[in-house]
Amino acid sequence: MRRSMLSVAFGLPLVLLFTGCGKLSTASFENDVHPIMQKHCVECHLPGGAGFEASGFLVDSYASVMKGTKFGPVVVSGDALSSSLYRLVAGEVDASIQMPHGKDPISTEEIAVIEKWIEQGARDN
Ligand code: HEC
Repeated sequence: MRRSMLSVAFGLPLVLLFTGCGKLSTASFENDVHPIMQKHCVECHLPGGAGFEASGFLVDSYASVMKGTKFGPVVVSGDALSSSLYRLVAGEVDASIQMPHGKDPISTEEIAVIEKWIEQGARDN
């Protein structure tokens, strides 16, 4: 009896964790946002890559993402719609400058994670 109560108590949060992936209550830079950038952005936004050479935007760490391009920040904490990082991936800009450059847009789930992370303050979490 005691044993089964325990497994319910521990099993339920695990199930929620796995089924709730698309609708995270808190978006984490390290666990959610950075993996998206490693998948879709890093090939061009690292030293020697076309995106980095053109804009100075690096995606290797929280600090470099927050630093932005050679022209300035691309993240406005708490305001996704004012953040060019969000606008570029969400299709809020002309297709010719949408990111990832010249490729299919990232998924709506991935866009939602980036939006949520910025809206929640773009923290180093
Ligand atoms: C195939 C190469 C490529 C990929 C992949 C890519 N980029 Fe870029 N990125 C570029 C190039 C080239 C530029 C500079 C030209 C421009 O501004 O349109 C650029 C510029 C940028 C800029 C600066 C725009 C500005 O206003 O100056 C940001 C921010 C950016 N990319 C974010 C991203 C993000 C986020 C991803 C992943 C979702 C990504 N990029 C994926 C090539 C790429």
